[in-house]
Amino acid sequence: MTSMNLLLNDGASLPALGFGTYPLKGAEAIRSVSTALDLGYRLIDSAANYENESEVGQAVAQADAEGVRAVVTTKLPGRDHGYDQTMRSFEGSLRKLGRIDLYLIHWPNPRHGRYLDAWRAMVELQRAGRVRSIGVSNFTEQHLREVADATGVMPSVNQIELHPEFPQAALRRIHAEFGVLTESWSPFGEGRTFDHPAVTGPAAHYKRTPAQIVLRWHVQLGSVPLPKASGDERQRENLDVFDFALTEAEMAAITGLGRPDGRLWGGDPETNEEM
Ligand SMILES: NC(=O)c1ccc[n+]([C@@H]2O[C@H](COP(=O)([O-])OP(=O)(O)OC[C@H]3O[C@@H](n4cnc5c(N)ncnc54)[C@H](OP(=O)(O)O)[C@@H]3O)[C@@H](O)[C@H]2O)c1
Repeated sequence: MTSMNLLLNDGASLPALGFGTYPLKGAEAIRSVSTALDLGYRLIDSAANYENESEVGQAVAQADAEGVRAVVTTKLPGRDHGYDQTMRSFEGSLRKLGRIDLYLIHWPNPRHGRYLDAWRAMVELQRAGRVRSIGVSNFTEQHLREVADATGVMPSVNQIELHPEFPQAALRRIHAEFGVLTESWSPFGEGRTFDHPAVTGPAAHYKRTPAQIVLRWHVQLGSVPLPKASGDERQRENLDVFDFALTEAEMAAITGLGRPDGRLWGGDPETNEEM
């Protein structure tokens, strides 16, 4: 079980670790998400652009029928920004997923300048009780300020690239100030730090794998990691990070692996286009 829950600024709670579903598709997506739910994951991360919402919905419906209730997340694609488009896109995602608990704007796509209207629609969806929590992904401090100033509603979550080589200290501080919960995408950073002494040292000391050390680092930062693993062995391993703790020095050493050019593939929110 994910043994911790975090409080969102809208009063809802979110498990401290979730399951990433990209790029799982088809039968593999149903199988992997079902296994994750069986093992105890209670937060599932999907997106319209992952093209797996129907499969995630099938696995979630099966778990719901067995009394296992997870927080279902999906994301609005860039092509559907704008008020009416967001409303339509939400209905399409909802049909596939069965329910949506946390709805995020996937990327700001600032060149297109329509994320504010998308956010207005999301605020309305939440007011109407269609979705429990609303948030964003890949937003900068300026994007967060802008949507909150325009609507009076600060996103509950900002899901951002975050891993030891890109620890996002400045944006995490802003999140803390604004009351926004951080979620970490690509939490392993492609395992680039798995051989580094800052990770292998604690791994040997606590008899854990490098992946578990990195996930524990996210949890102690207060950021919700969303590891993806197709097989049940790694899924189990990734969930098993709630019975040991890194020291402050160990945490600082991992955060110290950060580099200004640490992004995996250059997904800069100011310029990246996700449609
Ligand atoms: N909001 C966004 O813009 C955005 C962008 C990217 C990703 N995401 C979300 O974040 C999730 C995670 O990102 P990601 O898939 O890029 O990166 P990730 O979860 O950091 O890494 C996944 C990779 O790590 C491997 N892995 C899993 N558990 C492992 C373990 N215990 N030891 C060693 N290797 C392990 C997986 O292999 P196997 O699957 O073969 O086990 C897979 O190749 C996505 O699924 C998606 O939900 C969001």
